[in-house]
Amino acid sequence: MAQRPLLEVHDLVARYALPGVPSFGGLVTQRRWLQAVDGVSFTLARGEAVGLVGESGCGKSTLVSLLARLADPVSGRIVFDGIELADQPAAQAAKAPWRHRVQMVFQDPHDSLDPRRTAFDAIADPLRSLRGLRGDALRQRVLDVAQRVQLGADLLQRRPHELSGGQAARVGIARALAPEPELLILDEPTAALDVSVQAGVLALLDRLRRELGLAIVFVSHDLGVVRLLCERVLVMREGRIVDQGPARELLDRPRHAYTAALAVAIPRFPERANS
Ligand SMILES: Nc1ncnc2c1ncn2[C@@H]1O[C@H](COP(=O)(O)OP(=O)(O)O)[C@@H](O)[C@H]1O
Ligand SMILES: [Mg+2]
Repeated sequence: MAQRPLLEVHDLVARYALPGVPSFGGLVTQRRWLQAVDGVSFTLARGEAVGLVGESGCGKSTLVSLLARLADPVSGRIVFDGIELADQPAAQAAKAPWRHRVQMVFQDPHDSLDPRRTAFDAIADPLRSLRGLRGDALRQRVLDVAQRVQLGADLLQRRPHELSGGQAARVGIARALAPEPELLILDEPTAALDVSVQAGVLALLDRLRRELGLAIVFVSHDLGVVRLLCERVLVMREGRIVDQGPARELLDRPRHAYTAALAVAIPRFPERANS
């Protein structure tokens, strides 16, 4: 029997209000909308990593903020392990029983972490609120997760500005992993990092997903990174999925003109051009 997908997305639509345009001599202001996500559907299997790629402004962040239920779609369905996630407004998602199962890692770790909270607190907070852990059990779990992301225990009392970019990124990942999600959504998690630091964080993510059997939606404008980390790719343009398929096939021998244009930008070493 075929297994049910972990995540099913049906015809999602999201839009932003644009500044109104006065018409009829200023008597009426006509509302205008930007359809940032324009009818997106896809499925994700348990433990599968899918890359979401496309140029800046195509709607990637908007789409994943819907999936993580941080924003509300206008219409469409998000079905996670049989649960309808879009039935409730995003404002209620923080307290939903499934909240710990779907977690998000944000682009800029320094920006997304509370500057007043230590690394320990950043990791402990979701364990308190979503898993009800306290005392020794909480402490132990924070230490375990820190070790998993290769974050030295000596760094846990630091605040974000006392951490390097790579260390802060590991805190952001640990915070998302702490409540034991089955689906991890990452929105350009290494875009703000130096290339060498980025490589370390990507290797970590790759190992974690294998060890923990995580399903991943990985947003990136860098197709080389997606090719390393993901089995499958969704190509997004102007709010729609315009191409999708196995990562290597799609990026190495693109058939869709838009994917080909994106793929040209993947840096490769000349001696490995045919590998
Ligand atoms: N809060 C917002 N208000 C109005 N428009 C927005 C807002 N956030 C994003 N947009 C617009 O929606 C479109 C998609 O943006 P985004 O989802 O951030 O794309 P990406 O992550 O692919 O760069 C863009 O045209 C962007 O300018
Ligand atoms: Mg974005």
